[in-house]
Amino acid sequence: MDRVSHIAPVRIAEAAPGHLPRDVRITGWGSYAPSRVLTNADLERMVDTSDEWIRTRTGIRERRVAAAHETTASMAAVAGRRAIAVAGLEPDEIDLLLVATLTPDYWMPSTAALVKEAIGNTRAAAMDVMAACSGFVYGYATARAYIASGMAKHVLVMGAETLTRFLDYTDRDTCILFGDGAGAVVLSASDTPGGMLSVELTTEPAGAYNIWLPSGGSMSPSSAETVARGEHYIRMQGRETYRFATRTLASTALAAVAKAGLQPADIDLVIPHQANIRIIEAVAKAMHLPMDRMFVNLDRYGNTSAASVPIALAEAVDSGRVRIGDRIVIVAFGAGLTSGAVVLEWTATPADGSRASSVRPDDISVRKPVGWDSVNPVPAALADNSASADPRPLGRSSNRDGMQRRLV
Ligand code: ACO
Repeated sequence: MDRVSHIAPVRIAEAAPGHLPRDVRITGWGSYAPSRVLTNADLERMVDTSDEWIRTRTGIRERRVAAAHETTASMAAVAGRRAIAVAGLEPDEIDLLLVATLTPDYWMPSTAALVKEAIGNTRAAAMDVMAACSGFVYGYATARAYIASGMAKHVLVMGAETLTRFLDYTDRDTCILFGDGAGAVVLSASDTPGGMLSVELTTEPAGAYNIWLPSGGSMSPSSAETVARGEHYIRMQGRETYRFATRTLASTALAAVAKAGLQPADIDLVIPHQANIRIIEAVAKAMHLPMDRMFVNLDRYGNTSAASVPIALAEAVDSGRVRIGDRIVIVAFGAGLTSGAVVLEWTATPADGSRASSVRPDDISVRKPVGWDSVNPVPAALADNSASADPRPLGRSSNRDGMQRRLV
């Protein structure tokens, strides 16, 4: 059957007249990380850096690299389908799909449109959210607005990135920081108070060019000349970004906590954007919280931008760090410069996370265009290094994806 023609028009979930849901809560969560691992030792062989420098300045030990057949949409679809399984829903019960990403599969269509088809949803509206590393938190806030207004009952919010394809592997300032992956939550309407307690979002354009990707847009369309200039890679002013991050992550989180009518001491777990351990330590200090209330997994994934918070959230729940009734802050910063924080009360049964194992990556595929194929998307600097296998045990969410392979 034609895979497009049977797709029904979008039907927005209408609330009963005069009835709006009182709250929104997480009912499902999931993540996906590619199996290939790029260690600091691998990077030592590519640029003038050292494992010791990367570990002490960032806390990162290794990051994941998408294989040639994987894209932002394919990884988002696996994480999203897992979140739907954990929620105990069918894909068609989702009313709205949001994909937060700065590394979409194409400029158009949206990555969310591709994900919709890949997960087998025939009726949702779908769109991308672009707020860089804050994108998942912005998507969360958008989902809440749709649900609170009665326009949607269940929203699938994903954060997914294939950052390794936008890095200059001769630029040691940036190539050591980023990795690939995806995370997702299902947000559902609820008539019981609790769930989401507050949200705070900021955008400071004064720092717009502190992290940017110069070419490919209307200001500088891609051409042989832009490629020759290396303008298709992420550029970053590290120190300025660091200063913004330490100041804004803390102030945004504290503003959200105050809006929720809480004190920082009331927060059981902070799940911050996983950019740099020193930034996370500074946020803990500003919030007067011990480091054991900060969730950290950047040592294994690096900075996965919009995917970092939902991957960390899924890992926190699946590793037993979250209990019903816990008050959690998710907080992120990114290009724009943007920041966002949500305070939420955890209401779902953590053990339901085991349902995610029923979703196997091999069972999900993103439809390709007819009569066109991409060039090999894996950067040349990484392509030659993918041969050897070195299986090691991983955290629970990663184990679902089978053995990992190390780049050497
Ligand atoms: N290996 C070895 N040396 C390095 C490396 C490297 N990979 N990178 C930089 N250096 C050198 C610099 O050249 C510099 O040398 P110099 O003193 O001889 O000039 C020295 O190390 C110190 O450089 P700094 O930039 O001052 O190092 P800093 O301690 O600030 O750490 C870092 C750099 C890790 C990038 C830090 O500034 C940072 O984390 N910034 C925030 C970045 C970030 O989070 N970006 C993501 C934004 S989210 C988004 O939307 C994509």
